[in-house]
Amino acid sequence: MKYLEPIDYQTPEFGDLYDELPLWSAPFGLMLLEHVALRPAITILDVGAGTGFMTIELAQRCGPDALVIAVDPWAAAMQRLTRKLNHLGIQNVRTLVQSAAEIDLPDASVDLIVSNLGINNFDHPEATLQTCFRLAKPAASLFLTTNLVGHMSEFYDAYRSVLLELGLSSQLAALDAHISHRATVDSVTKRLDRAGFKVVNVVTSSFRERFVDGSALLRHNFIRLAFIPAWKSIAPQEAVEATFTALEHRLNALAATAGELSLTIPAACIQAVKPAAM
Ligand SMILES: C[S@@+](CC[C@H](N)C(=O)[O-])C[C@H]1O[C@@H](n2cnc3c(N)ncnc32)[C@H](O)[C@@H]1O
Repeated sequence: MKYLEPIDYQTPEFGDLYDELPLWSAPFGLMLLEHVALRPAITILDVGAGTGFMTIELAQRCGPDALVIAVDPWAAAMQRLTRKLNHLGIQNVRTLVQSAAEIDLPDASVDLIVSNLGINNFDHPEATLQTCFRLAKPAASLFLTTNLVGHMSEFYDAYRSVLLELGLSSQLAALDAHISHRATVDSVTKRLDRAGFKVVNVVTSSFRERFVDGSALLRHNFIRLAFIPAWKSIAPQEAVEATFTALEHRLNALAATAGELSLTIPAACIQAVKPAAM
């Protein structure tokens, strides 16, 4: 029996691919895996699959008779997913390197749709949700996770104080708009509703991202990748450096008082279904 054979963890390929997912994705992914409806022999669509840890988990957890279709326009990430699939010998996955809004699969052909930190953060979530609705079989579920308004509120409070301190109160509207672009359970429910899905279950949770201080936060690679571009755009271009210098001081002062910089990340896992009778 093949599964009783030992796995050689000393190969370079094993070392390369052992890290399965971005750490930022992990708490959201664990929520989704805790609640997602697992069944054998189903067709699953992973929307915004990224490097594909959810695809790989579901392909294995649902067994070889299930098919997982991973879709993402990010070619480099999908290449890594393909390497992982080859390395692990997983054959029940199909990859689509394209926008999920344009998937060309038959209507009513998917039993389960998952999206970890995906659809809700896309540029045009409505188009993707319409496609998901078309592809979903009647009674199919869609599970998505997202961070919520309240995300990193400690950071944004500091940003607000700095804008006031620097006489940049004209930028407060931009800050507020940035803060409120995040999802609420209500806004996601309405969005899903508009696409025809009905929300049937919502699980919320909260975790913390901890740093020794603001200097560590602002130099963290994932923060630089995923958050700093939007944070920069809140400040006027000519005042970006002054704003970030003041912000770093402020966050460091907070950390000195509290012993660390702890940022709250509220999260939700939302299940919606396509009504059985249309
Ligand atoms: C925050 S990442 C999440 C990736 C993965 N689900 C995870 O949890 O690690 C969002 C992903 O959505 C993808 N994405 C953005 N727009 C998309 C679209 N229109 N269709 C499909 N995927 C898209 C991005 O390329 C990125 O891989």
